[in-house]
Order: sequence, then structure tokens, then C-alpha cells
Amino acid sequence: MNLERVSASHMIAKMAMVSFLASAVVLLLAVGDVHPFQGHVGRPQINPYCQAVVPFCANGRAPNTMPSFDSSDTLFVYALKAPRWEFTFGDLLANYHIMRDAVGFHHVQSGANFTMEWSGLGDIFNCTFPHELNNGTLVWCNQAATCISNGIDEKHWREEGMLVKVAEINGTIFSLFANWTEGDNATSVFYETWSVWDKPGGKLWYDSFDSSSWVQRAFAAMAKYGATFNQSVHLNYTRINIYSGPPQRLGGADEVFTKKRLAREIRTFYKRFQPHQSVRELLKSLYDAFFDIVVTKQFFLFHNETYWLLPLEQPLFSLTYEEVPLPKS
Ligand SMILES: *[C@@H]1O[C@H](CO)[C@@H](O)[C@H](O)[C@H]1NC(C)=O
Ligand SMILES: *[C@@H]1O[C@H](CO)[C@@H](O)[C@H](O)[C@H]1NC(C)=O
Ligand SMILES: *[C@@H]1O[C@H](CO)[C@@H](O)[C@H](O)[C@H]1NC(C)=O
Ligand SMILES: *[C@@H]1O[C@H](CO)[C@@H](O)[C@H](O)[C@H]1NC(C)=O
Ligand SMILES: *[C@@H]1O[C@H](CO)[C@@H](O)[C@H](O)[C@H]1NC(C)=O
Ligand SMILES: *[C@@H]1O[C@H](CO)[C@@H](O)[C@H](O)[C@H]1NC(C)=O
Ligand SMILES: *[C@@H]1O[C@H](CO)[C@@H](O)[C@H](O)[C@H]1NC(C)=O
Ligand SMILES: *[C@@H]1O[C@H](CO)[C@@H](O)[C@H](O)[C@H]1NC(C)=O
Ligand SMILES: *[C@@H]1O[C@H](CO)[C@@H](O)[C@H](O)[C@H]1NC(C)=O
Repeated sequence: MNLERVSASHMIAKMAMVSFLASAVVLLLAVGDVHPFQGHVGRPQINPYCQAVVPFCANGRAPNTMPSFDSSDTLFVYALKAPRWEFTFGDLLANYHIMRDAVGFHHVQSGANFTMEWSGLGDIFNCTFPHELNNGTLVWCNQAATCISNGIDEKHWREEGMLVKVAEINGTIFSLFANWTEGDNATSVFYETWSVWDKPGGKLWYDSFDSSSWVQRAFAAMAKYGATFNQSVHLNYTRINIYSGPPQRLGGADEVFTKKRLAREIRTFYKRFQPHQSVRELLKSLYDAFFDIVVTKQFFLFHNETYWLLPLEQPLFSLTYEEVPLPKS
């Protein structure tokens, strides 16, 4: 392809594709009180089909071994951000503010550091799109969990994204937060990439549930236990948005896949997004999918274990990076 002859319409299509890829590809945030994705009664068995390339939390501490400190000790709390997928795309996605969020702790008395992050057990594609088995079954590898690891890769967060101190807490607050973490980790178990709105700035049909949602829940929990946040720190969070008229409920897997035509439409839709394609195939099929979606203005969303048809409205998709204030105690 002669790059010098790329026409303006190609450029526009490319930019649209980049922003769609960005949307399709990333991971994001939420606000609000109780999310439907909270409050699951224990973590469901993980489908043995779902095997992540990089094991979840491989360098992290063992489950339910949050550290504890003397009640009067001091911990600094940091908000951490880095571009998502930097290992694949470098800091390209930072230009689109496609960031992932984490929290760091520094224990003043010992100098020990910790990093905590809630993320998909696989990767974001696996959390966003299902796998189709040979017999047509769609498998969702969309569980997510909290990982705590020792240390803060200070250079990395500071240079690639952000490392900013947001609060000082004592050992008592940390221990309440540690207990909260384990409870949250057992009950907030599914990842949701998309924020679904009726229009920009309008009514939120479905909230996303991702690394930034967790950071906001975590800060809210610390505030509830008595942490005071530095209100001069301003934090923006990435959201991947879809705009749609009222979502139409299609049903759970057992309902939709007994309806031949609907089952075919859903499978055809998700075939575009098979996460196990090579990167080249994936880019090609996302490109095609984008144009299909522009024409049909239909998106099949899987949310709360239910399939929904979204009748899309302009501008169809967007990425936003907006401030959510730190909690006030
Ligand atoms: C999630 O789905 C369950 C089962 O269909 C339903 O009982 C529950 O009300 C749903 N929650 C939300 C917030 O939609
Ligand atoms: C996504 O899930 C599939 C199916 O389990 C697995 O083969 C693949 O390795 C996963 N991808 C990543 C990046 O973990
Ligand atoms: C959260 O749950 C996952 C899955 O069971 C586990 O691997 C992880 O270690 C837990 N995190 C914490 C902080 O206990
Ligand atoms: C820890 O901080 C909270 C909130 O500021 C305070 O109420 C509590 O007395 C502190 N505990 C200790 C042991 O300093
Ligand atoms: C802990 O993190 C702080 C802040 O990033 C840093 O100044 C310090 O060197 C770190 N300590 C260790 C032992 O890594
Ligand atoms: C499809 O294959 C999977 C994995 O082999 C199996 O668990 C599932 O029951 C099959 N579904 C149907 C409808 O045959
Ligand atoms: C620990 O967390 C559980 C929920 O996971 C909650 O019911 C309990 O009250 C918490 N304990 C303390 C001391 O806050
Ligand atoms: C609060 O945050 C602002 C902006 O980052 C910073 O200048 C200030 O020193 C912080 N205050 C404290 C008490 O850490
Ligand atoms: C952060 O969000 C605020 C308000 O939501 C906005 O005005 C500002 O431009 C955002 N910052 C960046 C870097 O996008």
C-alpha cells in the first residue's frame, strides 16, 4: 500500500477504526453505589476452558494473605495509572487516555511497598468477547479478581503514567480495608468493559466494571473506614462507551440458543471478535466488524449473564477520560 496516497476518507476510516479498536480493546471504570456485578454469592467455578497465557497474579501474594501492620503505623496510599497494553502498543494508547488503574501502599515503618490491582483472569479481550467452541457454544472467560503483589514499580508508573499520593492511613484502617478486599474479591467477580448510555452525558443503562471501578470502590472503602483523601489531587478515569436506545432483553444462554435465527445472529456477531485470532486477523475482523456495526447499528451485549440487543445511536462508541473526585470522609 502506498501510504502517501491514503485518501482523506481512508484516514477518517482509520481514525474511526483506531478509536473503535481502542474501545474494543481496553478496560475501564465505574461509579455509583451497588453495581449488579457486586454481591455475587462466592466466586463461581472457573471454566477449565479459560486458560490465560499469563497466569493471573503469578508474582502476587497467595489468596487471602493481605499483610497486616500495627494499628498506629502509617501507610501512604498512591493512585497508579499506566497505559493499557503497553507491552503490545507501547505508550500509543496513552494518547487516547486508555489507562489501567491500580493502588500502591508504602508502609513507612518498614519501607515495604505493595501494589494492588483488580483485573481479568485472562486479558481484556477474553473479558469482552466470548470464545465459540466447535459445537457453537459461546464460552465467556470474563472473571476478574484482585491481585496484591510486593513492591511498587515506581519508575514504571511514574514514567509511563502516574504515581500520586492520595492519602495517609494507619494500620487500623489498612486492616479494615484488607478485610474489605477479601470480601469484595469473593463477590465482585465479573468484568464488564462497556458503559452503555442513551446519549453522551445522558442516562446510563449499564455501568462498566473494571480496574478503575475497583480503585474507586477501594478508595470509597478506605474513606468509610476513616481515611482522609487529599482533595487537591484530581484523577480522571477511562471509560469505553456505547450509545444505544433502550436495551432489549434477549435472555440467558439457555433461552437464546434454542432460537435458531437469534442464535445464528449472535454467533455471527461474535465471530468477528474471536479472541484467539492472530493479531493481524483480529485487526482485520475488528475493521470489518466496525463497518458492519455502523451499517446495522446493532450490538449484542452480554451483561449480568444475559444477552441484550443494543439498538445503537450516534455516536455509537466513544472513549472518555473524566474526573471522578476522591471521596470525602
Ligand atoms: C441479574 O440477573 C439476575 C438473574 O437473571 C436477576 O435476578 C437480577 O435482578 C439481575 N440484576 C440486575 C441488576 O439486573
Ligand atoms: C483467552 O482465553 C483462551 C481460552 O481459554 C485462551 O486460550 C487464551 O490463552 C486466553 N488469552 C489470554 C491472553 O490469556
Ligand atoms: C482474589 O481471588 C483470586 C481468585 O480466587 C485469587 O487468585 C487472588 O489471590 C485473590 N486476591 C486476594 C487479594 O486475596
Ligand atoms: C487510625 O485512624 C483513624 C482515622 O483517622 C482514627 O480514628 C484512629 O484512632 C487511628 N488509630 C490509631 C491506632 O491511631
Ligand atoms: C517504596 O515506594 C516508594 C514510593 O514509590 C519509594 O520511594 C521507595 O523507594 C520504595 N521502597 C522500596 C523498598 O521499594
Ligand atoms: C459443547 O462442547 C462443550 C465442551 O466440549 C461441552 O461442555 C458442551 O456441553 C457442548 N454443548 C452442547 C450444546 O453440546
Ligand atoms: C469484614 O468483611 C465482611 C464482609 O466481607 C463484613 O461482613 C465484616 O463486617 C468485616 N469485618 C470488619 C471488622 O469490618
Ligand atoms: C495534596 O495534593 C497536592 C496536589 O498534588 C499537593 O501539592 C499537596 O502537597 C498534597 N498535600 C498533602 C498534604 O500531601
Ligand atoms: C479530566 O477530567 C476533567 C473533567 O472531567 C476534564 O476537564 C479534563 O480535561 C480531564 N483531563 C484530561 C487530561 O483529559
